[in-house]
Amino acid sequence: MNGVLRPLPRFLEILCVSLWLLPSGVQALQTGDLVENFRLLDQKGSSHELYRYADAKAIVVLVQGNGCPIVRNVMPAFRAIRDTYAKQGVDFMMLNSNLQDTQAAIAREATEFGYDLPILKDQTQLIGEALDLKRTGEVFVINPLTWSVVYHGAIDDRVTYEHQRPAANNRYLANALDDLIESRPVKVAHAPAKGCLINFPSKTAITAQTKFTYTRHVAPLLKEQCVTCHREGGIGSWSMTGYDMVRGFAPMIREVLRTQRMPPWHADPAHGHFANDRSLTADQVRMLVSWVETGAPRGEGADPLAEDSRQWPEWSLGEPDVVIEIPEQAVPATGTIDYQYLVIRNPIGRDVWVRAAEIIPGDRKSLHHVITNFGVPTADGQFDRAQSGSLGGYVPGGKADVFPEGTGVFLPKDAIFRPQMHYTTWGKAGVDRSRLGLYFHENKPTHALKTTVFINSDIRIPPRTREHWEQAERTLEKDVWLYTLLPHAHYRGKASEFRAYYPDGTEEMLLSVPNYDFNWQTTYELKAPKYLPAGTRIVHRTAWDNSVTNPANPDPNREVPWGEQSWDEMLFGALTWRYVTDEEKKLRAATVAQAQGE
Ligand code: HEC
Repeated sequence: MNGVLRPLPRFLEILCVSLWLLPSGVQALQTGDLVENFRLLDQKGSSHELYRYADAKAIVVLVQGNGCPIVRNVMPAFRAIRDTYAKQGVDFMMLNSNLQDTQAAIAREATEFGYDLPILKDQTQLIGEALDLKRTGEVFVINPLTWSVVYHGAIDDRVTYEHQRPAANNRYLANALDDLIESRPVKVAHAPAKGCLINFPSKTAITAQTKFTYTRHVAPLLKEQCVTCHREGGIGSWSMTGYDMVRGFAPMIREVLRTQRMPPWHADPAHGHFANDRSLTADQVRMLVSWVETGAPRGEGADPLAEDSRQWPEWSLGEPDVVIEIPEQAVPATGTIDYQYLVIRNPIGRDVWVRAAEIIPGDRKSLHHVITNFGVPTADGQFDRAQSGSLGGYVPGGKADVFPEGTGVFLPKDAIFRPQMHYTTWGKAGVDRSRLGLYFHENKPTHALKTTVFINSDIRIPPRTREHWEQAERTLEKDVWLYTLLPHAHYRGKASEFRAYYPDGTEEMLLSVPNYDFNWQTTYELKAPKYLPAGTRIVHRTAWDNSVTNPANPDPNREVPWGEQSWDEMLFGALTWRYVTDEEKKLRAATVAQAQGE
């Protein structure tokens, strides 16, 4: 050797690259391997995050697939084990990574065969691939103290293809659980499992994964879906300014996708279509994760993010018609701050119809939310109900409130603003100078936008409960067009939904948020307004997680009542809507009659 680094011969280079590119799943899963966190929806639309089961003695996951005789056959044994060991603190669930099984089909199979366990749907197949699944019918036992697999394989040795013994000779799963509960090493950590083969197309076609590059695939998607927040001055915790930055965060990108933390969007896609939907498709998630897992290659060409020259104006809708300065608020370094209700004079001097409003927070770190209430004060200092309202507000991650086409909020000349300001301290004192920008209609819009709220202030959330539901309901007196839905709870909020019960006896889920996250107070904007006839009963339900495994829970030992502060709870929902006009009603009646005549 002459000391000069010579390039590897071509064939060796190819060999090295292809070994390095093998996805982790190609190496068979061993007991002792770490199971990384993930979040999935089950057949009923409930959300499950693996690491939220940290207080279990063990977590057992059975790989399920519709139509597989082996799975159907082992279910009675599995349920019997569940009945015994659930009492000892073991959690049981199933996982479906089949390409061909939809959430609805899994729900049908579960009903038909009486599966009373959550079946987690692995929509992207990423979780099944990481667990190196080959067949359904296999069980995994995970030790939550280490998040490692302590047993995987068959439940027992009773069932095989087209044969079954009357009884099992080896009760692998039960033995493994006994060992784990007694803190003994698991004696038999693996036994071959029988079941139906699962098709993982991208795993067999490794080359299909390796074609993803940053410049061609990843950066254009990030530019569309992430950069609005992940840029200088945006609310994201880091800026996607180019390849080096994104590559550095690549493992974190994989993690936030697996746990569905990013992009922040919490509605179950099975119900409703929303204009502000931030979610990625299963293919987009697969692409990003495959790119990370194959070494986050850059690819050829210019860097689309470094070249991103888009201007991000301070006001997302351009200069407002009027800017209202919210008086300075000093925020201390620590402690709790009661809700502030400020009184601000209205400088506009005339009646206006507001078409949009935006709040630019002064101190993003401490300003938790603003609700822009206004009203015309009466002699006793209260607001005249008929002349009061709300112009939306500010929440982290929120954007300008643009009222739906043809609608507006009437702001009388004599109204004053009385915003509700909520600050949280974060270790450093500061001063908040937020501003409210308003955009007016030139002419009176056709419709007034209305808000209906759902409140249940009698809630009592028992201590140490994983899921406690309460509800509030309202019945519509007239036909309305529904535009937006907002669920609101605090640190313990777990899931929330709005359901419509129509006068004809049918019902519909308008919005389901199976994974409620206090950090994201999203207003869900329907893609097309929804017609709700008079007599429709709308039920707003919320569940709270007051257990120790809720990382946001300030005190699991407390019975939690209603309260404005975040350590108390709220069941609060808001809908925006407008009345259906008589003409629209006639038109609708005619179309319905026509449809029935056909
Ligand atoms: C609506 C704004 C918004 C969008 C859109 C968004 N993010 Fe984020 N992202 C945030 C915020 C805010 C944080 C900080 C969260 C926190 O502190 O918990 C964050 C954090 C992250 C993190 C770091 C995780 C951590 O622990 O802080 C990653 C990685 C990430 N985002 C990736 C993405 C990707 C990839 C996309 C697009 C597919 C995306 N984000 C879209 C707002 C956003």
